[in-house]
Amino acid sequence: MATLSHVLSLSLLLFSLAHGLNNNNPQCSETKEQGSTLQIFHVYSPCSPFRPSKPMSWEESVLQMQAKDQARLQFLSSLVATKPVVPIASGRQIIQSPTYIVKAKIGTPPQTLLMAVDTSSDAAWIPCNGCVGCSSNVFNSVKSTTYKNLGCQAAQCKQVPNPTCLGSSCSFNMTYGGSSIAANLSQETFTLATDSIPGYTFGCIQKTSGSSVPPQGLLGLGRGPLSLLSQTQNLYQSTFSYCLPSFKSPNFSGSLRLGPAVQPKRIKYTPLLKNPRRSSLYYVNLNAIRVGRRTVDIPPAALAFNPITGSGTIFDSGTVFTRLVQPVYLAVRNEFRRRVGPKIPVTTLGGFDTCYSVPFVVPRITFMFSGLNMTLPEDNIVIHSTAGSITCLAMAAAPDNVNSVLNVIANMQQQNHRVLIDVPNSRLGVAREACT
Ligand SMILES: *[C@@H]1O[C@H](CO)[C@@H](O)[C@H](O)[C@H]1NC(C)=O
Ligand SMILES: *[C@@H]1O[C@H](CO)[C@@H](O)[C@H](O)[C@H]1NC(C)=O
Ligand SMILES: *[C@@H]1O[C@H](CO)[C@@H](O)[C@H](O)[C@H]1NC(C)=O
Ligand SMILES: *[C@@H]1O[C@H](CO)[C@@H](O)[C@H](O)[C@H]1NC(C)=O
Repeated sequence: MATLSHVLSLSLLLFSLAHGLNNNNPQCSETKEQGSTLQIFHVYSPCSPFRPSKPMSWEESVLQMQAKDQARLQFLSSLVATKPVVPIASGRQIIQSPTYIVKAKIGTPPQTLLMAVDTSSDAAWIPCNGCVGCSSNVFNSVKSTTYKNLGCQAAQCKQVPNPTCLGSSCSFNMTYGGSSIAANLSQETFTLATDSIPGYTFGCIQKTSGSSVPPQGLLGLGRGPLSLLSQTQNLYQSTFSYCLPSFKSPNFSGSLRLGPAVQPKRIKYTPLLKNPRRSSLYYVNLNAIRVGRRTVDIPPAALAFNPITGSGTIFDSGTVFTRLVQPVYLAVRNEFRRRVGPKIPVTTLGGFDTCYSVPFVVPRITFMFSGLNMTLPEDNIVIHSTAGSITCLAMAAAPDNVNSVLNVIANMQQQNHRVLIDVPNSRLGVAREACT
């Protein structure tokens, strides 16, 4: 509470996203969607109906994103140490905080829904007609000629959590804390940009309770069984890339490119590692981190990939601020502070412990992956309040209550980069791209 009131007593500045508007804006139109390329929006972008109804101060926005990150980290940590089965969705996925959304057209004739993209899960679910507890914007299966409920005998019915037979159709339940989802396992034609995906298997939500279920559907871009990648092998060959727009950008859309044909040729790669216990996560080898010109001292175990414990480093689209395990974060932060200058007073903002209220030269940070050095531009290292009165290193250690072994390269650090996932060749590419 002390932190919060401290924060709110700072000058309250309007977050630059809050203005600008939606569907009348040409930036939000679908005309840019061609072939296998979708526009990708931040959930708070002017195009998004999910943006906050009243403008939030910059500090409020940051604190809210941090709070959601904490739940996200808990969710990611819960994934790595548990059982090997990857169901269509695990209950824990309910509490994630979607930050980027794409438009999907579902059914025949198509109905447009906004789905959150999540590279760390395989789930696809959308709220459907008849849903108790969903928001008003649902997919109406009755109006589609291509919709079908899968039977209890369907092979896919064995891959979902808690399957049950309702009549002869396959349904399943997921729970987390006070929230739950019940869904029919269904098939439908999905249209992504102009690609048609007939018979796509997904969860058609019939009931939700609790407050943490996001209103839009979820499009998991993980690579486990029943994921979009697994279901579109022939079309996209488990290859996609995305460029995430900055959440404060005035031109608010990035892109999601599906399939090998539309990928950049000039891009640097690092090997993609596979953790059989959690097949959907995109692990890479982070060997070292440089701050300024110095490679900081990190105990190797804190970076090492270990499929048994789940430790290592992942790229995740759903976490906002990069989270490092404590010894790694402390080494980075200490060197960052040292380079900024020990005489400049450090303040905090919520979960950020390295903030300054005077101008300073931002030291460059480089993630040194196997075969790929990713040197972050200033905008991916620090977050500035709108008027520049406070600037924070936009990374943190895992919070105390999350026993995390994961280093998570989060979306703020990925913004304005193209990240290419090439599963057949087991590699992840990164290149700078001004996608906003
Ligand atoms: C879900 O399945 C139940 C039981 O078969 C059925 O009554 C209901 O209409 C289905 N809902 C949708 C949207 O398919
Ligand atoms: C979901 O759980 C409730 C209560 O535990 C149960 O009554 C219901 O049949 C379940 N539905 C499905 C689809 O598994
Ligand atoms: C994006 O915004 C900048 C100014 O903020 C403008 O110069 C540029 O033309 C815009 N790009 C597009 C594609 O609209
Ligand atoms: C990354 O940077 C380090 C240190 O500057 C250098 O030794 C290494 O060769 C670089 N790796 C790549 C793949 O460029």
